[in-house]
Amino acid sequence: MAHTVVIFGASGDLTSRKLIPALYLLYQKNRLPKDTRIVGVARTKYSAEAWREELTATTQKFAGKEFDAAKWQAFAANVFYQPGDIDKVEDFQALAKKLTELEGDQPTTRLYYLATAPSLYAMAIAHLGAAGLADESRGVRRVVIEKPFGTDLKTAQELNKSTHQVFSEKQVYRIDHYLGKETVQNILVLRFANSIFEPLWNRRYIDHVQITVAEEVDVGRRAGYYDHAGVLRDMFQNHLLQLAMIMAMECPNRFSAEFVRDEKLKVLRAIKPLAGADFARDTIRGQYEGYREAEGVAPDSQTATFAVLKLHIENWRWQGVPFYLRSGKAMSCRTSQIVIQFRPPPVMVFSEGNRSQHEPNKLVIQIQPDEGIQLHFQTKVPDAGMRLTTADLDFRFAREFTGTMPDSYQRLLLDAMNGDASLFARSDEVETA
Ligand code: BG6
Repeated sequence: MAHTVVIFGASGDLTSRKLIPALYLLYQKNRLPKDTRIVGVARTKYSAEAWREELTATTQKFAGKEFDAAKWQAFAANVFYQPGDIDKVEDFQALAKKLTELEGDQPTTRLYYLATAPSLYAMAIAHLGAAGLADESRGVRRVVIEKPFGTDLKTAQELNKSTHQVFSEKQVYRIDHYLGKETVQNILVLRFANSIFEPLWNRRYIDHVQITVAEEVDVGRRAGYYDHAGVLRDMFQNHLLQLAMIMAMECPNRFSAEFVRDEKLKVLRAIKPLAGADFARDTIRGQYEGYREAEGVAPDSQTATFAVLKLHIENWRWQGVPFYLRSGKAMSCRTSQIVIQFRPPPVMVFSEGNRSQHEPNKLVIQIQPDEGIQLHFQTKVPDAGMRLTTADLDFRFAREFTGTMPDSYQRLLLDAMNGDASLFARSDEVETA
């Protein structure tokens, strides 16, 4: 089956940094369905040639050493451009005509990727509908919607409602790029393809869970968006909650979209909502020094660039095990990791005074960089009485496997093209989150 990927917001950062490099690398690895073409849509009046030329430079930069000039040329021959304004329904009609020309009589699966400003999602979807572009009589039509999906419950519900007026839920792919990360999918494998962790994965043995996404980068040139979003909408409502759900969920009956999403939703629903005094006790908000001087930030901005939440998941598995979620920009180092800290032994029988370290057991899932998993445990120091120290078992992807870690958009774009929604958020999930 032929495929057309239509990218709205073609002149934006996401398109050049992530989407085009991901599609190109999929092509290079022979993973892109045969007969896939890409059509960029944005307001800029480019020709296809001018857009290709710009993408050649950006893809070379972002695909790095994997870039191959000859393969790129072959890929770029199937890259097209159509100027268009999301506000104008007639531009969507022109797009419909262009797509019919390109696709000819061949039934074609289409993926509409909304990489525009979030304020344009509802309009883009309405105009796709009005121009007949959601109609599936000549092939499957799917739409990918980037985060943030609304800014609160009400706006998320409204966006779901207006989306469903045009696309049925099975046509909608709400993307969270954290779910495309190899190390995040590997949490599912660690938990559900091994039997040794499951008996320990509960309140009886786990003291608490820490989920940290620390970024070294600051707000950069994104203040226009970020100063309204802040770290809670930018990172917590989506990426950090996804990590929490994957850590806490029950094993789905099968690895398929509905089963996985049902289990994730149950976790969200079990999180005790914060109320009243909880905010003072269980949350911290912060702002990095210099944030208010960044271009586009209000001089008296109260936007948080750092936050910590202590969440309580009230079900049989997790009651009494706090999940600490924290994230911030402009931190001293870049690290995303999950620490599962186990309870201490009920009685410590080895006592060598303060020469011994009695560190609790920890399982550390390193999401990025230095992707891997470490297990910290106590061991005896040889020839030193019963003195103990902490040692670890250390698994690293880079040591175990060759090749570079693929960017998360490769997996997610391919899944959306193939109609696998397991790693995408469902409407009830985004509303609950
Ligand atoms: C994005 C946020 O969704 O995720 C950015 O909008 C953040 O602010 C980014 O920097 C982090 O993604 P990653 O993959 O670099 O951890």
